Amino acid sequence: MARGPWGVGIPLGRLLLPLLLPLNLARGAPRAWSQDDFHSDICATCHEHATCLKRETTSICICKYGFVGNGRTHCIDKDECQYGASVVCGNHTSCHNIPGGFYCICLEGYRATNNNKTFIPNDGTFCTGFKSSSGAVADIDECEVSSRCRRGGRCVNTRGSYECYCMDGYLPKGGPEPFHPTRDATSCTEIDCGTPPEIPGGYIIGNYTSRLGSQVHYACKEGFFSDSEDTASSCTAMGTWESPKLNCQEIDCGRPPEVQHAILEGNHSSRLGSVAHYVCLEGFESPGGKITSVCTEKGTWRTSASTCSEIIIEINEVSVFNNTCVRWQINPGRINSKIEYVIYIKGQRLDPLESGHEETVNLTTESRTPEVCLDLYPGTNYTVNISTAPPRRSVPAVTEFQTAGDDLLEDDGIFNISIFNEVCLKLNRHSRKVGSERVYQFKVLGRRWYLNTFYHATSFNFTTREQTAVVCLDLYPATDYSVNVTLLGSPERPSVQTTVTTAPAVKQTISNISVFNETCLRWRSMKTADIEEMYLVHIWGQRWYQKGFAQEMIFNITASSQTPETCLDLSPGTNYSVSIQALSSELPVVISLTTQITEPPLPEVDFFTVHGGPLPRLRLRKATEKNGPISSYQVLVLPSALQSTFACDSEEVASFFSEASEASGYVTAELLAKDIPDDAMEIPIGDRLYYGKYYNAPLKTGHDYCIILRITSEWNEVRRSACAVWAHVKGSSLTFLLPQMVGVGLGSMAVVIVLAFLSFSAV
Ligand SMILES: *[C@@H]1O[C@H](CO)[C@@H](O)[C@H](O)[C@H]1NC(C)=O
Ligand SMILES: *[C@@H]1O[C@H](CO)[C@@H](O)[C@H](O)[C@H]1NC(C)=O
Ligand SMILES: *[C@@H]1O[C@H](CO)[C@@H](O)[C@H](O)[C@H]1NC(C)=O
Ligand SMILES: *[C@@H]1O[C@H](CO)[C@@H](O)[C@H](O)[C@H]1NC(C)=O
Ligand SMILES: *[C@@H]1O[C@H](CO)[C@@H](O)[C@H](O)[C@H]1NC(C)=O
Ligand SMILES: *[C@@H]1O[C@H](CO)[C@@H](O)[C@H](O)[C@H]1NC(C)=O
Ligand SMILES: *[C@@H]1O[C@H](CO)[C@@H](O)[C@H](O)[C@H]1NC(C)=O
Ligand SMILES: *[C@@H]1O[C@H](CO)[C@@H](O)[C@H](O)[C@H]1NC(C)=O
Ligand SMILES: *[C@@H]1O[C@H](CO)[C@@H](O)[C@H](O)[C@H]1NC(C)=O
Ligand SMILES: *[C@@H]1O[C@H](CO)[C@@H](O)[C@H](O)[C@H]1NC(C)=O
Ligand SMILES: *[C@@H]1O[C@H](CO)[C@@H](O)[C@H](O)[C@H]1NC(C)=O
Ligand SMILES: *[C@@H]1O[C@H](CO)[C@@H](O)[C@H](O)[C@H]1NC(C)=O
Repeated sequence: MARGPWGVGIPLGRLLLPLLLPLNLARGAPRAWSQDDFHSDICATCHEHATCLKRETTSICICKYGFVGNGRTHCIDKDECQYGASVVCGNHTSCHNIPGGFYCICLEGYRATNNNKTFIPNDGTFCTGFKSSSGAVADIDECEVSSRCRRGGRCVNTRGSYECYCMDGYLPKGGPEPFHPTRDATSCTEIDCGTPPEIPGGYIIGNYTSRLGSQVHYACKEGFFSDSEDTASSCTAMGTWESPKLNCQEIDCGRPPEVQHAILEGNHSSRLGSVAHYVCLEGFESPGGKITSVCTEKGTWRTSASTCSEIIIEINEVSVFNNTCVRWQINPGRINSKIEYVIYIKGQRLDPLESGHEETVNLTTESRTPEVCLDLYPGTNYTVNISTAPPRRSVPAVTEFQTAGDDLLEDDGIFNISIFNEVCLKLNRHSRKVGSERVYQFKVLGRRWYLNTFYHATSFNFTTREQTAVVCLDLYPATDYSVNVTLLGSPERPSVQTTVTTAPAVKQTISNISVFNETCLRWRSMKTADIEEMYLVHIWGQRWYQKGFAQEMIFNITASSQTPETCLDLSPGTNYSVSIQALSSELPVVISLTTQITEPPLPEVDFFTVHGGPLPRLRLRKATEKNGPISSYQVLVLPSALQSTFACDSEEVASFFSEASEASGYVTAELLAKDIPDDAMEIPIGDRLYYGKYYNAPLKTGHDYCIILRITSEWNEVRRSACAVWAHVKGSSLTFLLPQMVGVGLGSMAVVIVLAFLSFSAV
């Protein structure tokens, strides 16, 4: 080791050497070098680490072995260790420079092959892995004194001294190794790797220290996945953490895998936890339950174990009905679409002369209990094999049965007639295929229970050769038909009888309704033939002016005419609804009709004859509205001479009082029906007041008058009036206020007068 010129224990590293050189030069050159000196005593000027070499003429100073320099002003120690201990001393060594030389020491755990503590590698000595057991060490073991090197340091003896190296887990700080704790600033500090690096998408599990050898364990966050399974990173001797091998990437499972015979359904993402659902293809099912695939933390899909297997349709519960029809069931399964069946039919005719029947029928249906009516020969043994059309697979079913013979009379249960299209008979035959030919005679008789004389008879012959079993006979609606069937040519076979009833007509059978003579109806019956028909007539009557009035009539009329008519017993001045329905029809026809008003009832008056005396008051009673609404009451003053020519319905005497009208008569008072109180009211004649628009003028003295009460009914532009003479006035009438009235023969007299009057009041 080179010593600094200060004599202070500053380690002379390779870096410091060039710096110290000029200092040594400055100090080692006390005087100037001259030519004369060169010859005087050169040797005396040699450096302390130089030797003087005498030549013939002169001497020269040469630095000793281990030193370099000019031999006079400087010979500085050569640091043999500068090329590294392993280069200079060999493996497992430390190299120690000393002035003019160096020596080597084996590192802890090694020994020198010369069994010495120190060695120079020139003699072939090197360090081996075994420590000397002989302890042939000459030096005093300085390291015996414990903890010379302080915390984290390892002590190594040197010749007469020791030096320190940092132990595993420690690093030199403040200077290089080796160092001497009392001289050098170097110390050993414990390795601290600090905070481990973070990894994207990952986190650190559990506890760790930042010291050498400590391990941290990483894991990927939820939704992240790493290919590497090495989760650990260690704190290295370099004081740094190993870079983590865990490489967390966001999980993306990509497209879910294909499942055989299934299709992906609905939405799914490729992220962790996403569930993809599959549905089996048509004709396949998954007995193990729903098929799903889940995106796992490995970034792959994990598909449930279920698979889609082909549905094999089992055809069972085959039954025969209606003689030629077959029905079956299929096993429940997830089949939503139509299934095509192949029905193979093989028939063995009973009559060995006739050929067999072989046919394939296809049926496509969605039904779980399909049925099909086959076109089979009567009286034949059949084998029917039902299977599904390929590619669908099935467990086929085979059934055998015998079709009934084609004899309509054979069995009452099978002989069956129904009606369709209202007018046609349909014979429900066993089969459409022709067996042996037979002719049947049908006799048809139609009756209606409510019409004694109704009668509809027809007949036809039916041959089994005819493919169609429909006979249209123009039947009447709502009629009970009896049908007798006889097999012609077999007199020993009794005829068979059955009954069918036609439904009421759904089409309207009444048209062109008209009203004539006010209360009579005429219509047209759509049924062309002159058959008897019964009509139900329903009548409702109402009056707007008489709330309490309600008339209802229901009755039947029978007619065989194509244009029946009927006259109804209707009240005047009434609104009617009339419904007419043929009993063979479902539909009634409803019409409205209104009857005209007729004359109101004659006014009820107490008749008077006045001879020059005062007139009593006219007592006005409300007339009943039995023939129409009453509109007004008028009091007419008529010169007696005109009475015989007065017409009640005439508008002639409707004038106001005036000198001119006096001669022909005038209206002296008019009261509207609504103004008459329910009991009665009294009107004084000639009180000079206005009644309605008419002036009630006093009667002229010395004249003869006839005073008439007229009741008028007016509705629907029809006006009808009824009149009654109330009083005959002879001479003059001075006052109308006389309290005494001369009532003469009230009832009988009035009737006589009124009857007489009626004779001229007719229109
Ligand atoms: C020193 O060690 C190195 C590496 O371990 C090896 O390659 C080399 O041969 C060793 N030298 C000697 C002299 O044993
Ligand atoms: C051991 O070292 C001493 C001096 O340190 C020396 O005299 C002696 O020769 C060495 N022994 C061998 C075997 O080299
Ligand atoms: C983590 O370290 C803390 C403090 O040193 C300690 O209290 C805790 O028990 C440790 N946890 C585990 C799981 O080692
Ligand atoms: C499927 O995803 C689309 C687009 O994100 C969305 O509009 C739709 O409503 C989703 N359907 C279902 C059944 O979730
Ligand atoms: C047999 O056929 C008739 C007429 O076609 C039908 O009304 C009846 O329902 C059928 N019978 C069965 C059992 O289906
Ligand atoms: C049809 O079947 C019946 C009973 O199953 C049998 O008696 C008859 O001989 C068969 N006829 C034919 C033609 O196979
Ligand atoms: C019925 O279906 C089978 C199989 O699909 C086919 O070979 C055959 O031609 C079909 N027959 C008819 C009459 O459609
Ligand atoms: C019924 O039909 C299926 C399909 O055509 C066939 O495989 C099977 O042998 C048939 N069964 C019989 C008894 O004819
Ligand atoms: C049908 O036959 C019965 C007796 O069998 C007979 O009374 C009836 O009049 C016959 N009807 C017709 C329409 O021939
Ligand atoms: C039906 O056939 C019988 C016997 O041949 C015949 O007398 C009768 O007139 C036929 N009836 C009709 C409506 O054709
Ligand atoms: C109306 O009735 C009268 C008498 O009742 C009658 O003479 C006349 O023919 C009828 N009018 C019509 C159109 O029938
Ligand atoms: C009309 O005739 C039918 C059939 O006879 C009967 O049921 C009904 O009661 C009759 N109606 C009246 C109002 O007479």
